[in-house]
Amino acid sequence: MRYLLIAGLMCAMAAPLAQARAIPDPAQKHAPGNEALQKPIAAAGYSTPVNYQLQCAGCHLSDGQGSRANDTPRMKDFVGNFLKVEGGREFLVRVPGMSQSALNDAQLADLLNWLMRKDGMAGKSTPEQYQPYTEAEVAAVRHEAMLNLPQTRAGLIARMREQGIAIEDGLSE
Ligand code: HEC
Repeated sequence: MRYLLIAGLMCAMAAPLAQARAIPDPAQKHAPGNEALQKPIAAAGYSTPVNYQLQCAGCHLSDGQGSRANDTPRMKDFVGNFLKVEGGREFLVRVPGMSQSALNDAQLADLLNWLMRKDGMAGKSTPEQYQPYTEAEVAAVRHEAMLNLPQTRAGLIARMREQGIAIEDGLSE
């Protein structure tokens, strides 16, 4: 029994060392043939749909269906409704998944315009008079942190309800 205790204690003491060894060694060399620095995602030249798959689909799913179990709202046939209420246009740029993504401002504007296509994810929810997002518009609001996201979103949803818009975001029903 005593040996077991001592062995347990030694394991506990050795654990931080084992973790310390997991920290990358600054002197470590690249694997041969893999010396080139990795390209930042924004410089990789991927198309907008590929950017969506890489940056967004992990949570929102490929077709924008979202996931109630993970509190991720449905964008499919719904996300365009945010453009019908005051404050909604900026909200879409400022949600963390968007504003903190690895994409640059121009790529985010393209992504939003792609989401809003009538034959795309937003589908019928996009307003008739859709004004495309621009790089400058994204740059202007992207970095304003949203400190009260749930309340901000709830306010926008309430304004949609006032307009008689059905809240088919996958979370409300
Ligand atoms: C880590 C999971 C995750 C990733 C990655 C992610 N999102 Fe989200 N997204 C969410 C969640 C959760 C919400 C609900 C609001 C919140 O809590 O941020 C949301 C909200 C949104 C909204 C507002 C819609 C609404 O009904 O509130 C848009 C638009 C959006 N995301 C687009 C994107 C795009 C485009 C990307 C990729 C660049 C992306 N998201 C990446 C999880 C994610």
